[in-house]
Amino acid sequence: MIGQVPTTGADRMQRILADARDRGGPGQPMLILKDIKRHFPIRKGVMNRTVGHVQAVDGVSLTVMKGEILGVVGESGCGKSTLSRLMMRLVEPDTGEMIFDGDLVDDKVGLTTRRLRRQMQMVFQDSFSSLNPRMPIEETIAFAPMMNGSSRSDAIAAARALLDQVGLSAAMFARRYPHELSGGQRQRVNIARALAVNPRVVILDEAVSALDKSVEAQVLQLLIRLQEEMDLTYVFVSHDLNVVRYISDRIAVMYLGRIVETGSVDEIWDNPRHPYTQALLASIPSLDPDRRTMAAPIYGDPPNPINPPSGCRFRTRCPFAETCCEMHDPAAVTLPGSSAHAVSCHMENEASGHSRVGTNARIAEVTQ
Ligand SMILES: Nc1ncnc2c1ncn2[C@@H]1O[C@H](COP(=O)(O)OP(=O)(O)OP(=O)(O)O)[C@@H](O)[C@H]1O
Ligand SMILES: [Mg+2]
Repeated sequence: MIGQVPTTGADRMQRILADARDRGGPGQPMLILKDIKRHFPIRKGVMNRTVGHVQAVDGVSLTVMKGEILGVVGESGCGKSTLSRLMMRLVEPDTGEMIFDGDLVDDKVGLTTRRLRRQMQMVFQDSFSSLNPRMPIEETIAFAPMMNGSSRSDAIAAARALLDQVGLSAAMFARRYPHELSGGQRQRVNIARALAVNPRVVILDEAVSALDKSVEAQVLQLLIRLQEEMDLTYVFVSHDLNVVRYISDRIAVMYLGRIVETGSVDEIWDNPRHPYTQALLASIPSLDPDRRTMAAPIYGDPPNPINPPSGCRFRTRCPFAETCCEMHDPAAVTLPGSSAHAVSCHMENEASGHSRVGTNARIAEVTQ
């Protein structure tokens, strides 16, 4: 599979279908999250009593389709990394279900974590953390395949091929140690390490965020090429909206542990419906004079996730908040005429009683 460049989309679909691990065929969900929650206890004092919970991820339902790049965006602390770790089962959910290509992920009755991780891998922001400082990088890349039963010689040969594929000549780099590489090179090694078990899904949590802009662009290009060559599905987590727009097919916007809006890149960019999404987009420095804004789009820091606001969590920063926003959690509403664009805002729900239902209120109109 490695090294083959598909010529057409149909060709690619044929190869996804031919993957023996594929269950439902292309165009089907790869990963379904159903109402996933994870609250971290906060402990204090000598008795180590639990005095509260950080609601890091609070009822996320999300579908990742086969072969897509799903971008996840949101302010620092909104739960993006916790969500990534939940997908990888590095963190166990308190409640909720996860289904991977038709199988319930569950160590007792379903797809085990171990088998899940053969199909799903993660690349983190910190390029040092996943690399063993005392191991030459080819050994690090070969490690997981050897644990999964490959012979040493096969695993090393595959590691060298992967190094070439991520743009690091094996002849030059295979025996180097992590400290002998630049940040961009180390991130290429991390990508090779993730790909060594031949996964179907790669979760990239701020994977390019620590890189210089020019190096970042090269690594993004590499990720796009590998995704096409290896028929991968990506969940691409980043606080950088421009990068997410560049790489993603679809975007999920997170706020305080919840998804507030999902849609294709164009739907989110051209028609952001949640006031938080509008504010996020307005905060991107733009070269387009029509989109340039002098006003601060949202005020204040996000509320404390230990004690989040009732109802809609954005209401304390939203200029359109009304009583219904305080009383009820807004359900996700799929916009008419779209199968993918869903918004959790009372202004989109005719039954909510919000005075601005159907007015397509824009946050920029009230802040300028
Ligand atoms: N292991 C943990 N124990 C307690 N609280 C945690 C733990 N991990 C994360 N949190 C809290 O959960 C919330 C979400 O954190 P998370 O790291 O998922 O956010 P993020 O969106 O990835 O932020 P950033 O953009 O800064 O990386 C934060 O308030 C964080 O302090
Ligand atoms: Mg994070």
